[in-house]
Amino acid sequence: TSDIVILAIESSCDETSAAIIANGKVLNNYIATQSVHEIYGGVVPELASRAHQQNIVPVVDLAMKNAGIKKEDLSAIAFTRGPGLLGALLVGASFAKSMALALGIPLIEVNHMEAHIMAHFIEDPKPSFPFLCLTVSGGHTQIVLVEDHLKMQVIGETRDDAVGEAFDKSAKILGLGYPGGPKIDKLAKDGNPTRFNFPETEMPGFDYSFSGIKTAILYFLRDEVKKDPDFVEKNLNDITASIQHALINMLLQKFRKAARKHKVKEVALAGGVSANSGLRNALTEMAAKEGWQTFIPAFEYCTDNAGMIAMAAHYKFLANEFVGQEVSALPRMKI
Ligand code: KG4
Ligand code: ZN
Repeated sequence: TSDIVILAIESSCDETSAAIIANGKVLNNYIATQSVHEIYGGVVPELASRAHQQNIVPVVDLAMKNAGIKKEDLSAIAFTRGPGLLGALLVGASFAKSMALALGIPLIEVNHMEAHIMAHFIEDPKPSFPFLCLTVSGGHTQIVLVEDHLKMQVIGETRDDAVGEAFDKSAKILGLGYPGGPKIDKLAKDGNPTRFNFPETEMPGFDYSFSGIKTAILYFLRDEVKKDPDFVEKNLNDITASIQHALINMLLQKFRKAARKHKVKEVALAGGVSANSGLRNALTEMAAKEGWQTFIPAFEYCTDNAGMIAMAAHYKFLANEFVGQEVSALPRMKI
């Protein structure tokens, strides 16, 4: 048949995921989250690799079964080549290469950051080109000008920490556990966002820096707790609301500058932090004032998942962009 059926694998960080896409429609997006990292307050690379190794076969089996697809139906195998943790990426890359070799079908490499943006094309409504995407996750913070499915340009990015890291590290200081982003989001809903001020770092052009504010939060809390040991407990809602407000403000001031400069009419959020309700509301509000249309994927496709890898792979298949067996994982892969 002429159907394009692709199995896609994502293993760049702490989610082992497999998805099936048929003619551009995601039939199944199976995600196995690794809980082993929780007690360590962050992802432990070696443990992530081992968990991927354990999960990958059952995860692929389940995705195929749920989608009602047999291995004879597959047209190609896609995998996340990077960026991500080397040991984690190697599991997905090796598995995908072996399976493509065994079945005698083509192999497609996908850039994880491009895939976060391609998540916008899984479900309606879909943005039209060109649009400006703010990709915010635990590992990345980028402003990307998207000119076509396979043509995008990073116009600004963080020079140090990702914004998700700033959320997670702040949560860790506050004793909220990992991952802390969702916990800050929840607590911030009942807090006063302007009660505490944190110095926001100004960067040239459209770049970001989040290491300064993280340190400022750490020192602020240390000083306040010295004066009052119950400071955090008493003010948790206001503290989290103020931290979230400062981070969102940094993100959106820069993003607005970039969107005005490039005169885009459509804007989008991608990556795990786009789940943040404060960020969604603030962007939607800003967009209304600026006359932009806003696009945010369903939560399932915001955090790491193979559905977005499959979507990117579908366009690569159409463009005949395949790779050979010599391909290997690329931890610092760029857009
Ligand atoms: O895209 P993702 O699943 O993994 C990476 O590629 O990094 O993003 C995970 C990040 C974590 O830092 C997590 O704390 C953050 O997304 N996150 C949130 C929220 N939900 C997830 N941050 C703030 N508010 C949320 N609601
Ligand atoms: Zn990601």
